[in-house]
Order: sequence, then structure tokens, then C-alpha cells
Amino acid sequence: MWLTVNGRRRRIAGDPGTPLLWILRDQLGLKGTKYGCGTGVCGACTVHLDGKPIRSCVVPLKDVEEKSVTTIEGLAAASPHRLLDAWIDEQVPQCGYCQPGMIMTAAPLLSGNATPTDAEITAALNGVLCRCGTYQRVRKAIHRAAAGSTREHPELAHPRASLRPDEASAAKTVFQPSPWVRIDADGVVTVLIDRTEMGQGVVTSLATLVAEELEVDLAQVRTEFAPAATVYANPFFGVQVTGGSTSVSGSWGQLRKAGAVAREMLIAAAAATWGVPAGECRAEHGTVVHRASNRRLDYGSLSARAATLKPPRRVALKEPGSFRLIGHSQPRLEIPAHVAGATVFGTDLALPDMLVAVVKRPPRFEAAVKGIDAARAKAVRGVRDIFRIEGGVAIVADDAWAAFQAHDLLDVSWTGPTGKALDQGMIRAQFQAAARRKGRVELERGDVDAALKRAHTLLEVEYEMPFLAHAALEPVNCTAYVHSGGCDVWVPTQAQTATQEEAARATGLPKKAVRVHTTFVGGGFGRKLDTDFVGQAVAISKRLRRPVQLLWSREDDVRHDRYRPAHYARMRGGLDADGGLIGWHQRLVGPPLALDCIDVPYEIRNFRDERIQKESRVPTGAWRSVGAGQNAFVIESFVDELAHAAGADPLLFRLGLLKRAPRHRGVLELAAEKAGWAKPLADDRYRGVAVYFSFGSWVAEIAEISIDESGAVRAHRVVCAVDCGIAVNPDTVAAQVEGAVAFGLTAALKSAVTVEGGGVLESGFRDYPLLAYSEMPEVEVHIVKSAEAPGGIGEPGVPPIAPAVGNAVFAATGRRIRRLPIRADDLR
Ligand code: FES
Repeated sequence: MWLTVNGRRRRIAGDPGTPLLWILRDQLGLKGTKYGCGTGVCGACTVHLDGKPIRSCVVPLKDVEEKSVTTIEGLAAASPHRLLDAWIDEQVPQCGYCQPGMIMTAAPLLSGNATPTDAEITAALNGVLCRCGTYQRVRKAIHRAAAGSTREHPELAHPRASLRPDEASAAKTVFQPSPWVRIDADGVVTVLIDRTEMGQGVVTSLATLVAEELEVDLAQVRTEFAPAATVYANPFFGVQVTGGSTSVSGSWGQLRKAGAVAREMLIAAAAATWGVPAGECRAEHGTVVHRASNRRLDYGSLSARAATLKPPRRVALKEPGSFRLIGHSQPRLEIPAHVAGATVFGTDLALPDMLVAVVKRPPRFEAAVKGIDAARAKAVRGVRDIFRIEGGVAIVADDAWAAFQAHDLLDVSWTGPTGKALDQGMIRAQFQAAARRKGRVELERGDVDAALKRAHTLLEVEYEMPFLAHAALEPVNCTAYVHSGGCDVWVPTQAQTATQEEAARATGLPKKAVRVHTTFVGGGFGRKLDTDFVGQAVAISKRLRRPVQLLWSREDDVRHDRYRPAHYARMRGGLDADGGLIGWHQRLVGPPLALDCIDVPYEIRNFRDERIQKESRVPTGAWRSVGAGQNAFVIESFVDELAHAAGADPLLFRLGLLKRAPRHRGVLELAAEKAGWAKPLADDRYRGVAVYFSFGSWVAEIAEISIDESGAVRAHRVVCAVDCGIAVNPDTVAAQVEGAVAFGLTAALKSAVTVEGGGVLESGFRDYPLLAYSEMPEVEVHIVKSAEAPGGIGEPGVPPIAPAVGNAVFAATGRRIRRLPIRADDLR
């Protein structure tokens, strides 16, 4: 069968029923076209067929015969391409995984309509899903491209395909003063990135910390992901892990020092070369300069001599006032590769002789394999092996499509668990009952029982939140190769140390025989802190002694997640006759992950924080913002309830209780000013506010919403004020908060995992929908100027949005939201 792909006529061998997506990815190696759902729902696989956008995962090969297909690689090759340029100008991508699908959908829109309106853009883009929430930047990029106000980006011609080690550069390295910095004889500075890039911009932020002190421009820096090693442990956790929004704050001193040490050694090398005191020399733009004699040497020519010197134990770091890079928005280094479809995510890895595996998983959390009938599955062409592994039955094939087909034809019977199957009602009843009992008192001030007894107004209410899935666009995956020399693992992981340990466990090899190669991550959100998928991939490769890529289907990804735990809270609060808050008693119920990140900043004389640890047998894990997500909803909704009961403005009520919390006050006041809190809104619009401290940063958000007759809530505008200390890359800070609002809004308005019959009902983006393009509010981010050390930014924007929206719903309807997600049925 023949078709033309990116202008080249190609002969394709394969079953005519094979979806075009797998032909492009597995047969032609065009990995820019992504697998997100395989059912035509997410748009990640969009390509052009005779110039029209199609979803290649649901278009069989027979339907494209003799037609012309263009993929993102073909579009990028037509550079200069103003749409791709605009995407870079607006710094659209976060994780980057869905961006080829976005661009391939936007391009035909612009070809047919030179100046599309917002409504036309929304109509065209609405079905392409982005979990990172890049929608408003997508719109801006399309308008920019339409206006022709783009800058040309020559780097698109040779986008950096990945952050894999550059053997040639490594071979030329003569100077490596620390585990994070290498300088080769040509003067190429390589920064080793020991955290995971999943859209939060750490590649650029961490490189910036080094470049600032090393006095090089970012254009002179190349980056590569560091291997798993003790030296790269996250200082907050003692292991190599990316989580808790700690990448920049944890590296703030360490990487600046690494840059400064290298700088001082290069200066010393130059001074020795010239026979002048080091104090007369200084570093600038990748060179050392001796002003008095007007001599200059570049870092490449100094590297050999610098390598003979002893690194200084102490170095002076630059004062914030002299920062050239830190605090100034820098274009992210990896974005050109994202928009050209050249980034290597875990799913894009291709190794010689690699097989693809999928796993048939049990329908219930605690079920085990009872019997296998593999006759029909084994008849699928390309299937190599089918066998039991821990957690299910592995199907190994030559390519992904064969593996998925065999998966659907494989008959497995399951056994267990015995006893009553787990379901939502049972878990809720258990949590509710637990909330009636006394818990562990975490903090107590004054006499809360007496205060509530004498209160003029007493509020007693309960809040509840469901399990949530991570639903990153890139499904869970891992590529492993167990061979005579050890084990190599290529994986989109947030946890390198745990990955190494899991692979060592699965192979029986010592840890040092396991090499971890971190890939780009198409959305992490905490899911890729777990390593359940690593052990399986390694076990399959160990049996076959071939490189094996384990790929999860979208259904696996939703049904076998490590869910954000359900959470329950019982709240009591009391006001005196003047509306003063005299008592607050919170009893929070959930597993330890849900009982974390609790911030009640308000001055309350009589206060008790009580926690009840309750597990549910549902597998749970960290979900972007962890306990802060649930606890902010409870605390910031309840304080709003108290403000209403006091007859007070919710903003002023909070400010009155925050006299000794200047950073909470600061962000609240800034958000209120920018949102025009004191000004009236249009008739159908309502506002809600929330403020929360988490992961080292303070964020206030004011949501402006409307509610239609069906009860559907629409957020139109969200004004955010952020105090994250020094914002290393302010545009990245803004992007992270925009994305956090979209992420939190999805949870507030749309998401719930339903546990029934011992498993999860939802199976993909149809029944676990993500926020769509048309539902994205306008998000404004205002950053407090600060000289404090950086706090986190990946997560702190998430917690305030659900209570801000819930409080706005109350302003609109008088109905208090105490259960998420907000259901239209409750508001009709
Ligand atoms: Fe094709 Fe989701 S629409 S992968």
C-alpha cells in the first residue's frame, strides 16, 4: 500500500485495519504524533490528511491509501513556519506532549481563515486536550501568527531532540568541577539536570542558576538529564526525586555554588596563564577578562588548566541586584523541540530490537489471575509471548498495535478478593463514621469547646472530596533492557532513586548495575513518583532478554492509577455577637497524604486541629499539591462560610484575621486590587476568593464565574497573586500558575473517580473529562516582587482555585459547595 508522508511517497506494509497513528510511529518512526487515548477523544494524534486535520488513532491504513499525510515533522520542516514561531514567542508548551496535536489542529484553521476570531479558534481547538492548561497561550499564539508578528526561530531547523548525553561533548570534556557542570575544550558548557522536566520548566530554571554564576549566556549552555546517583539527591528528601515543588528551591544554593566554583577556577586559570592576580580578572559571557591589559580568554581554552586546580571550598555568590538572568523571563530551552515534535518522551523511545508490551490488568484492585486462555491473542500477527507477571498478564509483540489487539482478545479469569467488594458508598460511610470519633490533636490553642459553647453563632458542617486520577496526556510507560552487562531503564519518572531500587529488586542485580535514563515526561502531576510500571517493564525484559517498552493504554492509566485520596472533614466554628471569630475546630479524615499541607493562617484564639488517619484499600499517591488541594478547599470554604455568617465581606473578614501574616495579606491585597474586588461586576457574574500557603509560596486567587440555567458553572476570569520569593523565571512562574488553575478547576468542576465493585468505573477522557479549551478562563498572574529565597511554584497555584470557585458559586446562588466536583444538578 502506498501513501505520501511529509511529501515523500512511502510503501507501507501492514494490516489495512491498522490505525495510521501506529504506522507513523512504529513503522515510519515519526514520533511527533502522539498516543493519548487511542479512541479519537484527545487530539494528541492529529495529522493532516490531504490538508485536513484527522485523528490518526481512529483512521485505518486502508482509508489513507494514495493520500497525502503531513505530520508535525513535515510541518516543522517547512520552517520558517509562523505558527511554530508564534508558539515559541508565546512560550505555549508546558510538558509539550499535546502540542503537536494543538499545532496540527491550528494550522489548517489559519490556512483557511487568515484572521480567526476567538470563537472560531475555540470551535477549532475545543476537542484537543491539554492537561497542563496551555489554552490561553494557544489562543495568543494563533492570533500572533495571524497578525504576522512573529520572530523567526532558526533553532527550529535543528531542535534539540532530547536531553540525552552527548557522547562527543562528554569525550571532549576536560573540566568538570562539580557533578552539575562540564566544560569541554570547545567551550561548550553542559549543565546536568538532576530533576525531571514535566512542563514545570526546570531544565531552563536550573540551567539559569548555573549560568548566572558562571557568567555565561543561556545560549552557550547545553543541558542533559543526570543519571541516577546519590550525589543528585534532592536535599529536601535525601533521594533523587522531583516532587513537592522543590526543584528550584532545593537547587537554589547548590547550583549557584556549582556555577560560582567553576567561574572562580576559570578565573584562577586565566590569572595563572597571564601571571596576574586573580582579583584583577573577571568573568563575562563565557570568557575571563583582564581589563588592565585588555586580554581575554574563553572558557574552552582555559578548561584544561582549570581542571588542574583545586575547587575552592568557599565562593562568593552574586548579590540579587547583579543578577542578569535570574528574575528575568528566559525563553525555555526545550520549547523549540516540543513544537517541532522532536522531544523524546518515554513513549517515543525506540531502541534496536525493541519489543512492545502491554499488560492485562485485573478489573478489581485486589484481584489475581486465575486462568488464561491466550489462543486468540496469540494468533495476532506480531505477538511474541504472553505470560503472567506481578499485577497481571503481559502481552509482548513486535509493535504497539499488535500488543493492543492481542490484549483485547486475551481471556483472563480473575479471583478475589473475598468479602464485600469495595465501593464508593462504603468508603464514604467509613470516612463519615471516622469523622464522628475523636482524632489525634495536632495543634490546640485556648479552649475551643468552651468558645463554641458560648458562641452567638455556631456553624457545624462537613466537606468531602472524591478520589482523583492524574490523567496526564502521556500514559504511563517504561522501557527496560536487561542484558549481560546489567539493566538499562529509560523512563519518564519523577523518582530516579526509587526507579533504580525497583529495577534492582526486579532483576536481582545490585543497584549500581541499573542505569536510569530519564526522558521528558508528558505530564507527571505526582503519578510518576510511583514505580509500579518500572518493575513490570524490567521483569518482562528480563524474561525476553530484549529491550521492551511497556505501554499502558489510556484505560489502564485511569483504572490503575495511584489516586489522590478521598478526603472528609468535619468543621465547627463559632462567632460572637459582633461577628468575631472565637473558635475553630477542624477534624480532617483521610490517609496521611491527605492530612498534609494544612495551613490555617488566621488568628483564632481558640483552635483545635484534629486528624484521623483513615485508609480505604484504594491505591493512592501524590497528586499535584497533595493534601493542600483538599485542605485548602475545606479551610478556605469554611472561612468564607464564617464570613457570611458574620455578615462580613469575605475578603475583609480574612484580612482582619491576617494581621500577623504579611505574606498572606500581601497576595490577598494584590489579587483584590488587580481583580477590582471593590468594583461591581456585570449582572450575571459572581466572585469568590481564597488564599493558601503551600510548598513555600503564598497564592491568592479570585475567580469570576457565571452559572447558566442548567446549573453549569463557567469560570471566566481568575486573578492570581503569587509570592514565591525570587521568581527565577517569571514567565515560567506565570505559566505554572495558569496551568495550576486549569488543573484545579478540572477537579472542582469535572473530576471524580468512582469506585464500584472493587475497581474504578471510569476508563478514559470520555468519562473522566479534562478541562476543554472552551472552559479555560482568562488567568492573570501577578507576582509579588521579593528578595526572599525561592519557594515552590508547580503546585501552589492549585489549592486556592476550588474554594475560590465554590465561594463564587455561593455568592451566585446562596448554596454552599461542600462536596466536589460541583454538580450542575445541585445548582438547578
Ligand atoms: Fe488519537 Fe487521543 S485522539 S490519541
